[in-house]
Amino acid sequence: MQATVEELVLSGDGVCRAQGEVYELLGLDVIYDRETLKIYSTRRAKIKSMSAGIHVHAYYGAMDRLITRGFVGDDGHNMPLEILDLMGNKVVVTFMGREDLNRIAIITSGGDAPGMNSAIKSIVRTGIKWGASVYGVYKGYDGLINNNIRKLGWDTETHGSSQGGTVLLSARSKRFMDREGRKQAALNLIKKRINCLVVLGGDGSLEGALVLKNEFREHFKTLVLEGRFTRDELKKIYARKNRKNRKEGSEEQTATDASRGYSDFYGKPECYKEHPNIYRDLNTTEDASSCDLIESEVFDSFGDDDVDQYLYDLKVVGIPATIDNDLYGTSTSLGENTAIHRVVEAIDHLMSTMKSHSRAFVIEVMGRRCGWIALMSALAGAADYVLLPEAPADWRAEMVGNLRIARKHGKTGVFVIIAEGAVEPDGARIRASEVVKEIDGAGIDVRLLRLGHIQRGGPTSAQDRIYGTLLGVKAVEIMLSPMKEAVMISSFKDGFMEMDLREVIEQNKTVKALQQSLRFDEVLAHRSKLFQQANAYFRRVMTRVNSIEELRHRCKDPREKDCAVCMEMDRQPKRRIGVLQSGKRSSGMNTALNAVVQYALAAGVEAYYIPNGFEGLLGNQVIKASLYEFSGDANNGGSVIGLGTKRQIDPAMIQEKIEKFGLDSLIVIGDSHALLVVEKIRGVNVVFIPASSSNNMPGIDMSIGADTALNAILKLSDVSKLNSFACKNNVFVVEIGGDSCGYLSLMGGIAAGAFEVFIPERKYLIGHLSETAQRLRVRFREKSRRGIVLFRNERTFCSMSTGSFCKALKTDSEDLFDTDFSVLGQLEEGSNPSPVDRINASMLGFKAVDMCLENCGVGVVGFREDAIEFTAIEDVLRDFDRELNRARNPLWLKYSNICRSIE
Ligand code: F6P
Repeated sequence: MQATVEELVLSGDGVCRAQGEVYELLGLDVIYDRETLKIYSTRRAKIKSMSAGIHVHAYYGAMDRLITRGFVGDDGHNMPLEILDLMGNKVVVTFMGREDLNRIAIITSGGDAPGMNSAIKSIVRTGIKWGASVYGVYKGYDGLINNNIRKLGWDTETHGSSQGGTVLLSARSKRFMDREGRKQAALNLIKKRINCLVVLGGDGSLEGALVLKNEFREHFKTLVLEGRFTRDELKKIYARKNRKNRKEGSEEQTATDASRGYSDFYGKPECYKEHPNIYRDLNTTEDASSCDLIESEVFDSFGDDDVDQYLYDLKVVGIPATIDNDLYGTSTSLGENTAIHRVVEAIDHLMSTMKSHSRAFVIEVMGRRCGWIALMSALAGAADYVLLPEAPADWRAEMVGNLRIARKHGKTGVFVIIAEGAVEPDGARIRASEVVKEIDGAGIDVRLLRLGHIQRGGPTSAQDRIYGTLLGVKAVEIMLSPMKEAVMISSFKDGFMEMDLREVIEQNKTVKALQQSLRFDEVLAHRSKLFQQANAYFRRVMTRVNSIEELRHRCKDPREKDCAVCMEMDRQPKRRIGVLQSGKRSSGMNTALNAVVQYALAAGVEAYYIPNGFEGLLGNQVIKASLYEFSGDANNGGSVIGLGTKRQIDPAMIQEKIEKFGLDSLIVIGDSHALLVVEKIRGVNVVFIPASSSNNMPGIDMSIGADTALNAILKLSDVSKLNSFACKNNVFVVEIGGDSCGYLSLMGGIAAGAFEVFIPERKYLIGHLSETAQRLRVRFREKSRRGIVLFRNERTFCSMSTGSFCKALKTDSEDLFDTDFSVLGQLEEGSNPSPVDRINASMLGFKAVDMCLENCGVGVVGFREDAIEFTAIEDVLRDFDRELNRARNPLWLKYSNICRSIE
């Protein structure tokens, strides 16, 4: 039940009577009084909210009036209807009775996956917002069969978004595998006139949804013929279908791009007008009756025995949610990132005992057919070996060789990661105990740790909370637009795509068959780009280290004069790569440093590290690195070699030093200030690895340190949320840093479920704050609330202090709520790097060395559209706003209205 805003006041210069026309056409009452329009909810039309436009819920008859007066073309339109009033305000119209046209059921099925709860919350709220009814199916497909289905409200089941698991519960249903079970499930859906199904789950769960969709009409027909519905139920089904045909006919034919976005998901990033009218609600009422149907007109023609008159199709949208991340066609699935968090935390916690005992560990992680968790955790944790289901190798000698070399070079905490489904080249499963035995047999003290279901639990990571929210909004958008085939929404680093679910399921089957027939190269080719690149790099490091050391090993003393192998190796001209860190600290810089050194040395290059940034280079601090020198520091969030402090650096002098030390390439791990130094260096290869927790860098999707910061912000803001939960009717404002870049505020706000987010990419007037206060009043008038947080970037509202910001908000609260705040400051930068930052830093470090070896010139490596790219510095800087020190039009800005759609 959503509240109705009884009265809305639009005021401003030049407001006149005629400007109220659209509201009158919708059925609202309008009164004009001295440059002020007072608009009142009526029985025929109700103002539901003022977020993301003025949302009016009206009878469908208003449509003809809008068409006649030219507010809407008569050639079809998307639903919900979006129009502009004569003052330029966005008016979003939903129609009464349409709840019945779209009834969405949500199922979470199979292994629970962190992030499911964020998705559930955003489906519920976005669905309700756009006039659908949303139902929760409890306990997966079993719940569908048992009619364990409940209508969800705005506030039900939305409290657990920071936690793993699923508030709708889950199960692996055997009964749903039988046709009879699915028929029963169809019966329960039809009885509730549910026409949209969102399934969150893995391979098996999504296949189940596809089968149900394909059989749905047949079951429907049989059920009608068997007399399983009462006459009253049939009447309602009939009424629903007829209304849909009459009212949506034009919409079906003129289906425009579904990705247009009801919640401005892909729409104009400006959710505010430059000069807002001030909205003022005088009072609101609970509204239980607004959705009553006027059904008599459609019932009149009911009575025919033709079965087809009742049938409708089931719309199905799948959201990938499995920690295994084994679905074809998507680079991530909900839960995988949190699972990697758990593995990496375990590695970090094990490290001290590993080191104290000079003991090896074998860590078994989940992943029956897919090695995603194993591979990514191995990269993130800088493991010494990894065993995967899709890339079997002659592992025994290779693994023991690597462990020995690592220990020889002083790495005491050595460990191997094995996926639970790892196999031999002949397809036989490798047991973790066998791996332990092998290491033990080589005389290395070793223990086994099986992480098990811990990987599915605990607090949900920032990435899973963000993806969960965005995927939920996207799922509703897809379902409310005309769609015929079942789809899965696949997520990539830069956005979302609809995939034909049939193709996804077929490809998954192909992958399984390839796995069974031991065609592993082809299995790998079906994995995401990121998986393939990561695997190639990891294997290269492992095998190269082994082969170089093996060569050296053939003679007793590598420096022995008459050793032909060593002499040959030494004769070969060596490339010389220097690496430094510069700018502000960001977590993951050391991981990148370690990756550069390790990969360069494994590639037979000489690597030199330069302490204290560019100043160190000018001060001749150039030191030869050795294998594993930084492995102990890789996961430390600081800067182990120092960053330097000087901003003004003479590029000519840098060039001189580079020549002096015979470096043919320089790798710089740094922030935007370092980038501007790099811009001026000429004559050598310089590869820049972007490392900035505020993610203000151009030319890439995400810089190193940003994900750690997001996770730190979430931890801290969850504390603020707890404080706000503790006191009733309290709004907690969290001030987020990031200078002139709003990435952390926006994405942190989406992850935290913030009511509103203020970012410096927008201009705000004080009226925008009033508008937020007004929306808050509407919420608090509905009922007393807890846990409401707002995120504001430090530079918004002319950098007004957050204390004053809170006071201004409170001034407009009409005593309905209190305000409080916290300023995160430097704490938000976090300590040790998150798994995403470790993985990205390692991959970018490897890529940077590769680029140097290819004589790339001067440029930047970074993730772009799901793969690592090298971009020339001129191209990167074209997207950089030097004055504001941030990227122009970053991809993430398209999500800037999301919080308003699920507030
Ligand atoms: O599919 C996710 C997953 O966690 C797999 O990694 C694991 O093998 C399996 O589920 C465990 O299943 P269950 O929770 O039924 O024991």
